[in-house]
Amino acid sequence: MEDLDTIICRCEEITLREVLEAIRQGATDVDAVKRMTRAGMGLCQGKTCGRLVARILARETGQSVADVRPVTARHPVRPVPARVLASCPLPVISKETE
Ligand code: FES
Repeated sequence: MEDLDTIICRCEEITLREVLEAIRQGATDVDAVKRMTRAGMGLCQGKTCGRLVARILARETGQSVADVRPVTARHPVRPVPARVLASCPLPVISKETE
């Protein structure tokens, strides 16, 4: 018997119960579970929980894990202050060609 309070997504503290509920409500891929629960929207962007969610989806929907569509990867974006960009040296462009 599995513990439904098991944390699946540590970043967003999403439990197995919440993932199963999302699947019961119609989620058929990792992105759908992500939208319905926030699992995968945390700091690691699903690197930790994405595979777990895919395995749960596969088990609950009777698919193989390879057939479960993976999460859409998003690169973390951080603002860069203009002063950092201004302090970067400009590239030297040579007029010489080979
Ligand atoms: S463990 Fe789910 S986003 Fe990090």
